[in-house]
Amino acid sequence: MPKGQRINFSSKLAVVAAAAGSAVGLGNIWRFPYELGQYGGAAFLIIYLVFVVLIGMPVMLSEFVIGRMGQSDAVGSFKKLAPKGKWWLIGVMGVLTSFLIMGFYAVVAGWTLEYIYQAVANQFVNKDTATLTQVFVDFCTDTWRPLIWLFVFMIISAIIIMLGVKDGIEKSTKFLMPLLFIIIVALGIRAVTLPGGVAGLKFLFQPDFSKITSGVILSAMGQAFFSLSLGMGCMITYGSYISKKNHLSHTVVEVSLMDTLIAVLAAVAIFPAVFSLGINPGYGPELVFITLPNVFAQMPGGYVWSILFFILLCVAALTSAISLMEVVVAYLVEEIKIKRLTATIWVTIIILFLGVLASLSFGVWKEVKIFNMGFFDLFDNVTSKVLMPIGGLMISVFTGWVLSRKQIRDEISTHGRFPTKYYNAYIFLVRYITPIGILFVILNQLGLGRWLGLS
Ligand code: PFF
Repeated sequence: MPKGQRINFSSKLAVVAAAAGSAVGLGNIWRFPYELGQYGGAAFLIIYLVFVVLIGMPVMLSEFVIGRMGQSDAVGSFKKLAPKGKWWLIGVMGVLTSFLIMGFYAVVAGWTLEYIYQAVANQFVNKDTATLTQVFVDFCTDTWRPLIWLFVFMIISAIIIMLGVKDGIEKSTKFLMPLLFIIIVALGIRAVTLPGGVAGLKFLFQPDFSKITSGVILSAMGQAFFSLSLGMGCMITYGSYISKKNHLSHTVVEVSLMDTLIAVLAAVAIFPAVFSLGINPGYGPELVFITLPNVFAQMPGGYVWSILFFILLCVAALTSAISLMEVVVAYLVEEIKIKRLTATIWVTIIILFLGVLASLSFGVWKEVKIFNMGFFDLFDNVTSKVLMPIGGLMISVFTGWVLSRKQIRDEISTHGRFPTKYYNAYIFLVRYITPIGILFVILNQLGLGRWLGLS
C-alpha cells in the first residue's frame, strides 16, 4: 500500500483500544493464572511485574517507534529503516512466531466457544470439582469436538481480518473491555468471599522466594512478552497504523497498565476459589476451565455471569488472534503483494493445520513428542520462551543502537509536539538494561550463567 494511503486508527482511544485488544486476551485470563499457580504464586508475580516495567514497556515503545517510522508491516518497516542490513529478518521471525502462537492460541479460543455453549446449556450447576474436571478432560481429549470449535473460531477471525483491521477491532474492544473488567471484578468479589478463599490471596501476595529458579524467571519473562504481544512484530504492525498525532509513550503506559491489571484481577478471581475448592494450583492449562465454572455455580445469577464471562473471554481471544493474523496478512499484502482476501485464506488454512496438531496432542496424539513435548506445549514454549525474547532482544538493540537518538526523539515527540520527559531513561533501558536482561535470563536458563560465574 503506498505511503499516505495506510489506514490509521481513528482516534486516540481507538489506538489504545486496538493495542489493548491485542494485549488483553487468553494470556491474561487463561495463561497468566496457571503459570502463576505452577511457579509458586507471589514471587512469580513480583518477577513478572519487574519484567513488564524493565523489558516489556521499553520493547513496546520500540515496536511502536519502528512501526510508525517505517509505515509498513513488520518486515517492511525494518527494510525501510535499515535498507542495507539484515534486520528485516526480525520481522520474518515474527511472522513465523505468529503462526506458531496461533497454532495453540486458536485451540484454546475454541475451548472458550465450547464453554459458552456449556454455560448457555446451564451445565455447571450441581456439579462438584471432580465432575467439572472430568468434563473438561473428556472434552479436550476428544478428537472432533475441539476441532469443530477451532474451525468455527478461525472462520470468525478470518472474516474480521478480511474486513480490514480498523472496523472490527476498534468497535469491539472499546465496548467490551470495560465489560470484561466489571465481570472479573464481580468474580473476584465472589471468589474472595468463598470459605477459605483468603488462602488464595496469601498465595498471590505473600512471596516465597525459595521457589524461584532460572526456569521460573524465564517463564515470567516469556509471560510478559506473551501478554503484552511483544517481540514478534505485532506492535510494529499496529504501530504503523497509529497516527502521528498520538503520544506513543502514553499509549505504552496505558496498554501495559490495563494488561497487567486484568491479569492480576483474573488471578484474584481464580486463586481464592482454587484454595477454597481444594484444587491443585499447579494444575496447568485446565485451571481456569475447572475453577471458574465452580465459582459461577455458587454465585447469585451465576447462569448469566457465566455466559457473559465466556463470551467476553472469547472476544478477548478474538481481538488478540486478529492482531496475530494481521502480522502475517500485512506482511503478505505489503511485501509479497498478495491480495488481502487470498492472504487471509492461506493464513487461515496454515493455522488450522497447526491447530489440529496442537489440539490432537491432548488426545489421540498424546504420545507424539518433539523435544519431549506435545505439539501444543512445543508451540507454546518455543514462542514465549525462545522466539519472543530473542525478537525483543533484537528489537531493543535495533532501536538502541541502530536508529539515531534524534530519529527516536523526533518520532516519540512527533517532532517536538509532545514532551519527552522520560526519553533518557527509555534510551538507557533499551540500550543496556533490556538486551542484557533478556540475554542474562536466557543464558541463566541454559546454565551458562552459572558456568560464567554470573549467577
Ligand atoms: N497478548 C495476547 C494475550 O495475552 O492473550 C497474545 C498475543 C497476541 C501474543 C498477539 C502475541 C501477539 F502478537
